[in-house]
Amino acid sequence: MPDPLSQSTPLGVGLIGLGTVGGGVAQMLTEHAGLYAKRCGRRIELRRVVVRNVDKAKKSGLVDPGIVGDDVSALRGDDVDVVIEVAGGVDTAKGYVEQALSAGKHVVTANKALLAAHGPALFKLARLKGVSIAFEASCGGGIPCVTALQFGLMSNAVRGLYGILNGTCNYILTEMTQKGRTYAEALADAKAKGYAEADETLDVSGADAAQKLAILASLAFGVSLTGDDVPCEGIDTLDLTDVTFGDELGYDVKLIAAAEDDGRGGLFLSTRPCFVPKDAQLAQVHGAFNALSVVGDAVGHVMLYGAGAGRGPTASAVVSDLLNVASGWYPKAFADMGLMPDLHEPATPQPTDDAQSRFYLRLSVRDVPGGFGRITTILGEHGISLSAALQHEATHTGDDFVPVVITTHRCRQGDLHAACAMIANLDAVSGPPVVLRILDAT
Ligand code: HSE
Repeated sequence: MPDPLSQSTPLGVGLIGLGTVGGGVAQMLTEHAGLYAKRCGRRIELRRVVVRNVDKAKKSGLVDPGIVGDDVSALRGDDVDVVIEVAGGVDTAKGYVEQALSAGKHVVTANKALLAAHGPALFKLARLKGVSIAFEASCGGGIPCVTALQFGLMSNAVRGLYGILNGTCNYILTEMTQKGRTYAEALADAKAKGYAEADETLDVSGADAAQKLAILASLAFGVSLTGDDVPCEGIDTLDLTDVTFGDELGYDVKLIAAAEDDGRGGLFLSTRPCFVPKDAQLAQVHGAFNALSVVGDAVGHVMLYGAGAGRGPTASAVVSDLLNVASGWYPKAFADMGLMPDLHEPATPQPTDDAQSRFYLRLSVRDVPGGFGRITTILGEHGISLSAALQHEATHTGDDFVPVVITTHRCRQGDLHAACAMIANLDAVSGPPVVLRILDAT
């Protein structure tokens, strides 16, 4: 019986970047060539590889040295149907992707920074040229969260997204919480393990998670938004004292990227360290793992969990995208369904001061009569009800100030900030209170 694949046209692939992810992609295409041909009904052929360091790529043993070059215009030829961009960066990558789309090539990208900044314009260009952009690997590494939001959960009105979307931050927080390591030690280890971005500020400042949230929220809520729309705090200012108090109160600290329906057509967006109850599913996400908790009106609560970075997981998402393009269904969905951010209206992000939540406060309070009382009076005057309060005896005789920790019931964040501004001015209090959100909903 003749091989049915011998009748079908192979799919030509051009790859930009042969680093951690690109190398994984090349390896998977070689190792699983037969499987992929069977699944897609056509062979997938890697025909061009574009890199900065040609010699290194030629000697890598990952690809045929004859297909390696440093000129991206080589991807414009008829032998390439799909361009995979895994080089990273924003401006250069934008130029590469625009060139590929303009030449009528489908694009598969893992580049969240690029999509968070220029997604809608690039999707629009793809639509104009009759091709598609697939981007599963841009968020959550190997977790198929983009596909889940676009297709698996498309029947739902999404009420909330709560993500642990940065493996580096989660690794650092886990090491600090479980092993008592310092922030600097844990960060150095995360870098050595290859989780961190080339510029780790993007990870620890929360910017990377905010970019991923912008992409996911745009799909979940059918709006157009950029990473700049997401108010962002990182873990770089987190104090180990709060990790320890949280532990005592039954919470773990996690960097949570959240997008929540405000019930009036707007969205509350934020990326910041939050306390999560230790028995919540998100608190079970440790190390470099990522998770996305989705609350849909029909499905209820769904949590997607897996490796959010690294060679195998990210290559898994890139190659799955490639196969979905090869089989033809993804380009059709891209063209025919109203799912992509270029078709959406801009989001209406609401001021976070209007968001309601529970909160944790830590204050440094003078250890004298009435200090605590003045604080609770101000909170009460702002309509804020206390849920728990904690003060340990001073550890050294003569300590003037002691840490006081308060958790609140649900309140408006703006009211809490106003109360904290007054509290910070009290003679009995030293410095502004530390405020962390307590996330009960996940
Ligand atoms: N630096 C990212 C992280 C890699 O730590 O999650 C994947 O985007």
